[in-house]
Order: sequence, then C-alpha cells, then structure tokens
Amino acid sequence: MSDSPDTSTNTSNRTPLLLIGSGGHAKVLLEEFKDAWDFQAVISDTVLSEDQTAYFNAQGLEVFVESDELLNAFLSKNITHAVVALGDNEIRLNIAESLLTRGFSIPGLIHPQALIASTAEISPVGVQILAGSHVGASASIGKHTILNHYAIVEHDAVVGDAVHVAPHAVVLGGASLASGSLLGANATILPNVAVLATACIGAGAVVNKDIDVAGVYVGVPIQPIYSVR
Ligand SMILES: CC(C)(COP(=O)(O)OP(=O)(O)OC[C@H]1O[C@@H](n2cnc3c(N)ncnc32)[C@H](O)[C@@H]1OP(=O)(O)O)[C@@H](O)C(=O)NCCC(=O)NCCS
Repeated sequence: MSDSPDTSTNTSNRTPLLLIGSGGHAKVLLEEFKDAWDFQAVISDTVLSEDQTAYFNAQGLEVFVESDELLNAFLSKNITHAVVALGDNEIRLNIAESLLTRGFSIPGLIHPQALIASTAEISPVGVQILAGSHVGASASIGKHTILNHYAIVEHDAVVGDAVHVAPHAVVLGGASLASGSLLGANATILPNVAVLATACIGAGAVVNKDIDVAGVYVGVPIQPIYSVR
C-alpha cells in the first residue's frame, strides 16, 4: 500500500479513473474496461492482504486505503473520475453520492460488446453495463445500475436506480424493477410484471406477479422468504 498517489507517469490518452472497491466486482470492472479507461489506483475501505495488493499491482495499479486527504490529493491532480466497484446496491449508491458531492464524476461504463437499442434510455451517471448484456427498444436504465454479464432488459422495460441485474438475469418486455433491487443470476421477470418495491430476487427465480412489498423472494414461481415493510 502507498501513502500518497503518484500520478506523474500517466501518459495515456484514456481518461484516468479511480477504482473504488477491491473485491470481485472491482476485478471484473478492471478486466472489462481497462482498454477504455486509464485505471489509476484502487481505493479500498480496508487494508488489503499481500495477495490482494499483488493482484492489483500486477495490473499496474497502486492500492490505497480511503481517506479524505487521499481523495483530495487525486482531485488536486485533476483525477476526477471514479467508478464504484461494489455489487451491494445501497453501499454503491451511498459512496457514489458522496463522491459526487466531493466533486468527482461517476461516468457510465458501457462495454462495446453490450447491445443497446438506439431508443433505449440509459442514465449517463454510474451505470455499469457489462459484456454480453442487452437493453431493448424504449427500455430505460437508472443511474448507478449494474447490468452484469449477459443480463437482458427487453423492450419497454424499466429498471430503476442502483439496481443490480445479475449475470443471465432477464427483465422481459414491459416489466419493471424498482430502485435498489437485486435480480439474481438467471432469474426472470415475466412480461409486464412490475416489481414496485425494493426486492432481492433469488438466483433462478421466476417473477410471475407484481411485487409491492419490499423483501426477499425465491423460487419458481416466486415466494417471499421474508418481507420488509
Ligand atoms: C435469495 C438470496 C439472496 C437469499 O439469501 P439469504 O437471505 O442468505 O438466504 P438463505 O441462504 O439463508 O436461504 C434461505 C432459504 O431460501 C432458500 N433459497 C435461497 N436462495 C434460493 C434460491 N435462489 N432459490 C430457491 N431457494 C433459495 C434456501 O435454500 C433456504 O431455504 P430453507 O430455509 O428451506 O433452508 C440468495 O440465496 C440468492 O439467490 N442470491 C442471488 C445471488 C446472485 O445472483 N448474485 C449476483 C452476484 S453477481
């Protein structure tokens, strides 16, 4: 770990970007977007193990523990873009909002192998749309939402803010998914079905009826395993 950022060797034309987070999703984003963005450093909320640090160092990134002084040092060096690499929706949203307040930009990252319809509406703020995913005609995706690998959001579907659509999950035509929700891997929301409250939908579930009570739902068709009012 280093005490202060050394950005003097950045000669790339790509925009410098800070990677906020150091877990699995950080590795995924680094791998996926390193050709498009000039990742500068990993900023973690904890001290990483030697192995974890070595992983990022081998990719050319220094690792820092987050602090106000550190973030200000990057800002003062005109490194103003950051991606929040955390799968947890609430934590990702809170950190992103705090970084925005400090003056950072949280750009949307869209992999070139994602298939985005020309009439889809994608928030420019903080979306992470990974390879193989698809957003159909007139569908919309809110800010700070992750579409993980091979996630599909079909035509006219509405996905809220700070949602995570896991790998191979599907939001079918005209369906909706409330802000803050997780749609687990391989889960499906059937056409025109509305998830109106923040829901955690288990891997492989099929959502065949509207959800208007926040909670955790699993199975085919879905059943609640607990609710949050
Ligand atoms: C739904 C989920 C969040 C529940 O997690 P949890 O609250 O820790 O729940 P537990 O593991 O304690 O399981 C509670 C019960 O639900 C069952 N269950 C959990 N997930 C299930 C699923 N996806 N489908 C069917 N049943 C499931 C468990 O078998 C258990 O049943 P039991 O009480 O009869 O033993 C989680 O299992 C899941 O599916 N997460 C999605 C993961 C994912 O896709 N992440 C994307 C990362 S990229």
